Amino acid sequence: MAMGQSLASRPLLRLAGRQSRNCQQLSLRQFHQLRSSRPSIASTRSTASSATRWTATRSASTGAAAAADARSGITRVKNLVLGTTILLFSTAGFYYFTDTRASVHQWLVPRIIRTVLPDAEDAHEYGNKLMKAMWDFGVHIRERASPDNTGELKTEIFGHTISNPIGTSAGLDKNADIPDALFALGAGIVEVGGTTPKPQPGNPSPRLFRIVSQHALINRYGLNSLGADEMARRLRQRVREYAYKHGLGADEEAERLVLNGAAGVPPGSLTAGRLMAVQVAKNKTTPDEDIEAVKADYVYCVDRLAKYADIIVVNVSSPNTPGLRTLQRVEPLTKILTGVVNSARAADRATKPAVMVKVSPDEDSAEQISGICEAIYAAGVDGVIVANTTKARPAALPTGYALPAKEQETMKEQGGYSGPQLFEKSLALVKAYRRALDDHPAKDEKAASKVIFSSGGLTNGQQARELLNAGASAAMLYTALVFGGAGTITRIKKELVEQKQEK
Ligand SMILES: Cc1cc2nc3c(=O)[nH]c(=O)nc-3n(C[C@H](O)[C@H](O)[C@H](O)COP(=O)(O)O)c2cc1C
Repeated sequence: MAMGQSLASRPLLRLAGRQSRNCQQLSLRQFHQLRSSRPSIASTRSTASSATRWTATRSASTGAAAAADARSGITRVKNLVLGTTILLFSTAGFYYFTDTRASVHQWLVPRIIRTVLPDAEDAHEYGNKLMKAMWDFGVHIRERASPDNTGELKTEIFGHTISNPIGTSAGLDKNADIPDALFALGAGIVEVGGTTPKPQPGNPSPRLFRIVSQHALINRYGLNSLGADEMARRLRQRVREYAYKHGLGADEEAERLVLNGAAGVPPGSLTAGRLMAVQVAKNKTTPDEDIEAVKADYVYCVDRLAKYADIIVVNVSSPNTPGLRTLQRVEPLTKILTGVVNSARAADRATKPAVMVKVSPDEDSAEQISGICEAIYAAGVDGVIVANTTKARPAALPTGYALPAKEQETMKEQGGYSGPQLFEKSLALVKAYRRALDDHPAKDEKAASKVIFSSGGLTNGQQARELLNAGASAAMLYTALVFGGAGTITRIKKELVEQKQEK
């Protein structure tokens, strides 16, 4: 019997064994279907041996199922480990890449951008688009553990206490696409624009050039702008989104509430301890000699934008709009600035934006500086930004450095030069304007001092300190961000704090 059983069951066991092996390819369900088709074979045997065969088959299939179960258990554990590892790495990666302190932002990203996008304007355009998309999806680069948190960088500007005195200059965000993403990089002040009344395309491309060895740029964008109406639309939308997010509604009334301070944040920046400046300019086609028309251009912009700004900046210094810098002469400047100040004071908002004028570093004689200060006092302007890009081509750094032949050619491109080589000039200009403004006969001891922001050549904390000590209330930058990456503002602020603590 035992022998018979064993003999009888052998083929079946072999079959079961084969089936078990096949199970590696077959699913458990297929296996059971196959097994249930056995009775046609089994019917040729006795009932007893059939039961024995059944037991053997069953034990074989149970073993196969257990093996399959074990294998699927191992697979599940493997998947879990893999999934957890991927999750941990992507979370760590996300935290690393979105932190302004990550060294890749300084050492790798700018180089990659220059390689992938050899045209500097493309890099500017795609960089802004990427920053906007990252902001919209909440995955923007931001300050984690900001140097502002020490409280040592706090500063008073136009009656606001701002968290730090480092700002981003005009031109980086021409149409107010990314003010919030720039605040997230740590800027205490973000200047958007310059915008013109009507949209204008600016100069033909190429119009932005890198001088990599100098970490400098030459641009002749020529105030390309989508126009003041479009900028106002974007800024209005931003205020309404803010109101909606903070439960104040989403309509005109909600907008008014936010602009009138109901949210407890400055109406321009919409961020506690930060200020947003909006820069305005004239259209290229408006004739410079028709001062009323020029003034109307600026006023058109201010009428539309003042309520969304903490500061209005009047650009009379771009070297890429023919004739613009002639508007820095006392008479036309006083007229334009008076028009702007009146329009800003009429802004439909409880508090009014301050007004500043941005000047050129090339109009730097004592007479020119004193003329500009004259206009500032006469028009009741609150301050001055020194300065814009220069038409000059400063000597390379370090002293005696010979530029590669290709860069020597680039230096011949028309446009405004920006970058570290401007620093000494900026510092000298801040000192000169501080003196001229403070010594001006119209200075009223009771009134607040005219405010100076510096712009030009800033790359580190030591320089920021020098500019602030020389009388600037804020130090702005543009080109350093292009070459130093998204962590530049955090780094400069950290250096500023360290200097303060060393004292
Ligand atoms: C590509 C580019 C575009 C600029 N556009 C403007 C502008 O629209 N309005 C303005 O006042 N300054 C503009 N600037 C000048 C900067 O705001 C800044 O004053 C100048 O670059 C000097 O600072 P930096 O050496 O830190 O770059 C632009 C600069 C660059 C490089």
